[in-house]
Amino acid sequence: MPELGVNIDHVATVREARRTVEPDPVWAAALAELGGADCITLHLREDRRHIQDRDLRLLRQTVTAKLNLELACESDVLSIACEVKPHQVTLVPEKREEVTTEGGLDVAGQTDRIAAATRQLNDAGIDVSLFLDPEERQLAAAAALGVAAVELHTGQYALANGGERELELAKLTAAGEQIRAAGMTLHAGHGLTYHNVLPVARIADMRELNIGHSIVARAVMVGMQNAVREMKRLVELV
Ligand code: PXP
Repeated sequence: MPELGVNIDHVATVREARRTVEPDPVWAAALAELGGADCITLHLREDRRHIQDRDLRLLRQTVTAKLNLELACESDVLSIACEVKPHQVTLVPEKREEVTTEGGLDVAGQTDRIAAATRQLNDAGIDVSLFLDPEERQLAAAAALGVAAVELHTGQYALANGGERELELAKLTAAGEQIRAAGMTLHAGHGLTYHNVLPVARIADMRELNIGHSIVARAVMVGMQNAVREMKRLVELV
């Protein structure tokens, strides 16, 4: 059974829409742990559009599950990671204009840069996972670097329908086999929802699934009625 990593970035996205103090991703992480999260995942983006440095530092102190920090391969955020020491860093590509992470890391094209970042993180006692498309060439480059884990990008699978989805699932399954054969741990994430998660969770030796948007979206829906009821009760006190 894979572990569930809950990505809390979009709790911070709602907070940053007003640049206020609520909703607090630190509080959301505590609730996610109560709900059974095995891992709390957050992405400290260079533009700090959602998670702030303060969130990372507080989460390091409060999360009792595994803490997985997603980062671009850039020196300023790598230094913060080495200081705060999450259990795991997942290296991702990052473009300022993107809505969310688009595509996997090009480890085959930037081996030296990613090898240096991996060494820096490993020396600080942090496990490294690379977020990669299910492509043989990229997985072979990751294996050559000796990273602990690969998180397979499930975005294409999530976008596909019918026969195409089956093809994307077959690519993920083959990639999983290659990752296992190279002695790396298999993770997956991006675009996973309550509707599409099971076939990915069933891939042999799947160890960690990172899911954000769908869980935060559902949290808004299942929490709305209570939230309104509480406000209504307050207003009725007048
Ligand atoms: N894994 C990685 C590496 C990501 O960058 C993201 C998005 O931040 C996720 C998983 C979660 O994706 P989603 O929000 O679509 O569930």
